[in-house]
Amino acid sequence: MKFFWVTSVCFLLALLFHGVPSETTSVNKEHAGTPPRGWNSYDSFCWTVSEEEFLQSAEIVSQRLKPQGYQYVVVDYLWYRRKVPGAYVESLGFDVIDEWGRMIPDPDRWPSSKGGKGFSEVANKVHSMGLKFGIHVMRGISTQAVNANTPILDTTKRGAYEESGKVWHAKDIGIKERACAWMSHGFMSVNTKLGAGRAFLRSLYEQYAEWGVDFVKHDCVFGDDLDINEISYVSEVLKQLNRPILYSLSPGTSVTPAMAKDVSGLVNMYRITGDDWDSWGDVAAHFDVTRDFSTANMIGAKGLLGKSWPDLDMLPLGWLTDPGSNEGPHRQCRLNLDEQRTQMTLWSMAKSPLMFGGHVRKIDQATFDIITNPTLLEINTYSSHNMEFPYITSMKSLDSEDQVLALQSGCQRDVPTPNTLLLGLTGCSDSKAIGWSIQTLDQDLEQICLKRSSRNSDEETIYKQEYLGKHHLLATDRKEFCLDASPTRKLTSKEFKRDSFSPCRWDTNQMWELNPNGTLANSYSGLCATVNSVKAKINSGGIRSWVATGRKGEVYVAFFNLNTKKMVISMKTSDLARVLSGRNLNWSSCKCKEVWSGKDVQITQETISLAVEIHGTALFVLNCS
Ligand SMILES: *[C@@H]1O[C@H](CO)[C@@H](O)[C@H](O)[C@H]1NC(C)=O
Ligand SMILES: *[C@@H]1O[C@H](CO)[C@@H](O)[C@H](O)[C@H]1NC(C)=O
Repeated sequence: MKFFWVTSVCFLLALLFHGVPSETTSVNKEHAGTPPRGWNSYDSFCWTVSEEEFLQSAEIVSQRLKPQGYQYVVVDYLWYRRKVPGAYVESLGFDVIDEWGRMIPDPDRWPSSKGGKGFSEVANKVHSMGLKFGIHVMRGISTQAVNANTPILDTTKRGAYEESGKVWHAKDIGIKERACAWMSHGFMSVNTKLGAGRAFLRSLYEQYAEWGVDFVKHDCVFGDDLDINEISYVSEVLKQLNRPILYSLSPGTSVTPAMAKDVSGLVNMYRITGDDWDSWGDVAAHFDVTRDFSTANMIGAKGLLGKSWPDLDMLPLGWLTDPGSNEGPHRQCRLNLDEQRTQMTLWSMAKSPLMFGGHVRKIDQATFDIITNPTLLEINTYSSHNMEFPYITSMKSLDSEDQVLALQSGCQRDVPTPNTLLLGLTGCSDSKAIGWSIQTLDQDLEQICLKRSSRNSDEETIYKQEYLGKHHLLATDRKEFCLDASPTRKLTSKEFKRDSFSPCRWDTNQMWELNPNGTLANSYSGLCATVNSVKAKINSGGIRSWVATGRKGEVYVAFFNLNTKKMVISMKTSDLARVLSGRNLNWSSCKCKEVWSGKDVQITQETISLAVEIHGTALFVLNCS
C-alpha cells in the first residue's frame, strides 16, 4: 500500500532526473512523437464511404483542420466489401480479394483502384493535399480467402510460397477456431508459426506500403481478441519497411495496463475501451481506465520506432451515422455541449490520439470550435505529467434546494461519496491526528475536512477528503446522525463503527474543536479524531479532476462533474503543490483562466472553486511566476 502523493513525487523526480526530451527530436525523428491526430470515416459513414466522399472529406480536412494538426485521414473498415443488397457488416461472400487472397478496394466504390492499383491513387491525392493516408484492416485472413483456398504470395519471389516441396494455400494457414469474435463470419487468425502464415501477413503489409499507406488501424487483435503473435509479426514487418507506417490497434474492450504493456512497445497507439459512440455512458466509462493507464506511465511510452499512446477512440461529434449501419451521415450527435466539452477535455488531458469522427462536409461551428480549441490542442500535444488529481472536493451547487436546507442546519457533507468510513480516536499529540482544516468554499459556507489520500493495492480505491459538519461529525449517509466520542461507550482509541453515530445533539461528546495545528479534538474526551480507512470507491458518478503541466510552465487543471446535479468543485493550491512538487511556484501570483468560458477566475483563500454543470467540465490554466 502506498500513499498516492508518494507515487506522484517519485514520478516527477524520475522525469526530472532523465530530463525532458527536446521538442524537435520528439516531433521529427520519432514515429508518433506526439499523439496522432486526424479524421476517420467510421462515425459518419460506417463502412459505406466511397472514393468521392472520402476525397471530398480529405479536401475539407486539409483546408479546415490541417492547420490544427489533423493530419491523418483514415478509411475505416470493409473498404473491400461490395455495397450491394445483402451486404452488411456480418455478411459473407461480398468481399473483393485478389488471386493471393488479399483484400482489395471494392472497384465500384473506389473506381481508381481498377487495374490492380489498389489505394495508390487515393493515397497520392491525399498526399498532394498535405495529409497522410490511413486504412483499417482486420486480423489475419478472410474467411472468403480460406474458402477460395487461394495460394500464398511469397513477395521475395513474386510468386507462390513454396516450402517442403509444396505450394501453400489459405486453408493451410487460417485458424478457423480463432475467428474474430465480433465478425466471426469475416476473418480468422493465421498461424504465424508457419513460414506461409508469416509470408501471407508480409504480403499484406508490403502491399499497403506500395499503395502509399501511412497509417494502419489493425482490428480484432487486441483486448478480448488478443493475438500477440500477429501483432508482434506485423510490427516486425512494419519496422523493416522503408515507408514509415504508424501502427494502431483496435478495439480494446477489457484492456488493462498489464495487457497493454505486452504490446505498447510494438505499436504507436492502442484502444483501451470498446467503441465510443455519442452517449454519456460511453464518455463516463473512460475516466477509470484512462486514470489507470496514466498511473501505469503508459501515456507516451516507448512504441514502434517512437512512442505509443493509449487511444480513447474517435470523437463522435457533429453529423453522424449509426454503428453497423448501411447508410452515411444522417443525424446530429446526441451529446449536449457540456458533455462534448467533457469528452474533448478528458481526451486532451490524457493525451489521447484525436481522431474526429463526424462528417466534415457538414461540420457546425460549435463542433468545429470544440475540436480546434487552441488550448486543448496545446495540452494534447505538449503537456506533461498528465494524471488524475484526487484532492478535490464538491458539494451540490447552491441552486439546489437540498443545499439550502443543509446550510440552515449548519452541516455540510460530501454528496457523492458513499460512506464506509472508519473513524478512529487517538491522542492529540499523535501526528496521525493532523490534517483537518476548515475550508471556505463559497460565501458563508465552511466545512471541516480531512485531507488524506491513499491507494489500496488490491482494489482501485481513492481515499478522498470527507466533508464534515462544522462542529458535528455527520454520518455521510444519514445526515441527522452525528459521531459520538463518549469514553463511557468504550470507543476510545478504537475504530468507530456505524453505530457510533447517534442522533445529533449539541452534547459535548458530539462536539469537536479544530486546533491551530490541524488536530480535531473532542470536547468531552479530549481525544483527537483520525480517519483510519475510507472505502470510497469512485464509481461512474462523482467528480473527477486531472492535472498536467504545460511546456511554458503553465499548469492545467480540469474539473469534471459526472453527477446529474450541478456541483461546486473546489481544490486547494497547496494540494496542487503536492503533486507538482518538482516546481516552486508562487501560488499567490497565479493568474487563473477558465478555458471554455474564457473567464478569469479568482483564487480566494488558496482555493479554486467553480460551479460545474451536469456532465460538464471546467478547465483552468494557471500562469504563476
Ligand atoms: C496540537 O495542538 C494541541 C493543542 O494545542 C496539542 O495538545 C497537541 O499535542 C498538538 N498535536 C500535535 C501532533 O502537534
Ligand atoms: C508572490 O507573489 C506575490 C503577488 O505577485 C508577491 O507579492 C510576493 O512577493 C511573491 N512572493 C515571492 C516569495 O516571490
